[in-house]
Amino acid sequence: MDRFPVVAREVIARCQSLAECTEESGFTTRPFLSEPMREVHTRLRDWMEQAGMTASIDAVGNVRGCYAARQPSAPRLFIGSHLDTVPRAGAYDGILGVVLGVALADLLNGRRLKFHIEVVGFSEEEGLRFGAPFIGSRTFIGDIDDELLGRRDANGMTVTDAIRAFGLDPSRIGDARAGNDALAYFEFHIEQGPVLEALGIPLGVVEGIAGQSRFSVVFEGQANHAGTTPMHLRRDALAGAAEWIGAVEKEARSTSGLVATVGRLEVEPGAGNVIPGVVRTTLDVRHADDAIRTAAIERLHHHAGDIAARRGLSVSWKHLLDQASVTMDASLSRLLERAVDASGYTVHRMTSGAGHDAMIVARRMPAVMLFLRSPGGISHHSRETVLPEDVEAALVTGMRFLEEMEARHD
Ligand code: HGY
Ligand code: MN
Ligand code: MN
Repeated sequence: MDRFPVVAREVIARCQSLAECTEESGFTTRPFLSEPMREVHTRLRDWMEQAGMTASIDAVGNVRGCYAARQPSAPRLFIGSHLDTVPRAGAYDGILGVVLGVALADLLNGRRLKFHIEVVGFSEEEGLRFGAPFIGSRTFIGDIDDELLGRRDANGMTVTDAIRAFGLDPSRIGDARAGNDALAYFEFHIEQGPVLEALGIPLGVVEGIAGQSRFSVVFEGQANHAGTTPMHLRRDALAGAAEWIGAVEKEARSTSGLVATVGRLEVEPGAGNVIPGVVRTTLDVRHADDAIRTAAIERLHHHAGDIAARRGLSVSWKHLLDQASVTMDASLSRLLERAVDASGYTVHRMTSGAGHDAMIVARRMPAVMLFLRSPGGISHHSRETVLPEDVEAALVTGMRFLEEMEARHD
């Protein structure tokens, strides 16, 4: 009996059940090592154990499930994605890749391969709590440092404090690093954009992931009385920030392939009858070509300085992330294309505008990604969804990928 349609619906139901693990009732908001992450850990470990895997949680809250190979000394294929979400997220960004990995182990149904399969649910990829993304996968590749561990959240807690508060042991962070038996890394993820839907196809093989830079940008002027301060005597931080935000959009619209977003805006003191004295914003800039991205950032930096000087404001920039664009492993991508084709689906290669753990893990081992169509092209929103037939396509292709990997190790 063809189990794929049944398992596909179970994958969707599991993602929807995990979407209820949230800090914000009625929405899916699940930051790094937040309380709702405990329930995610519990359910994933249960599903892993039911699939014949041994499950554990590492020192930064990554969930690790191992489906053993025929030989203990075998190499290890990692299948993973992230467990955390943006605020008011959908039910599939990240978590779908983890649940699909467990489903593949389940579908193997006790059959042992020439390599171990380790499914990894990374504890933090979005950067919501500490402003620094990829804490889970950076730990996994051994790239976590005191600067990152010392980052503070809105409550002043450091990453190390958060690890301890969750009941984990920061001194064991080194144990979370992937070993030298790593064979490759495979990530399923929703496309989060409109391309596959426009093409009318379920799957995309990711060729590369766009580079991205993230900043906090603060404009400071002079708070003052909204009724008594003439316009020519004002140093209005919000009016300055607003002019700059318009310049950001204009810059992105005029540079092919560039996207730039001001996603947060905090105004102080935030009263209707007070001229804003301080405005805290964020900037997110992305492009497939790193040189174009960095040149655009330079121009946006100048725009901010010019606007601030003209308005008697000060402006400060804080670098939160600089992540170069990453190309997926060419030979693994060809193998994945063969799996897509052999499964009867159209092969389409594409670039990812969204960042993914694969761009971090690719520094340590060959990495490959398979996208699933995003109906409506929407993501980072509760309307994010997937089609059961596309999840089935991903499962069929995933199993074929494992067969191709198995054959490769004859
Ligand atoms: O923002 C991103 O690119 C991803 O969703 N973390
Ligand atoms: Mn995301
Ligand atoms: Mn994601």
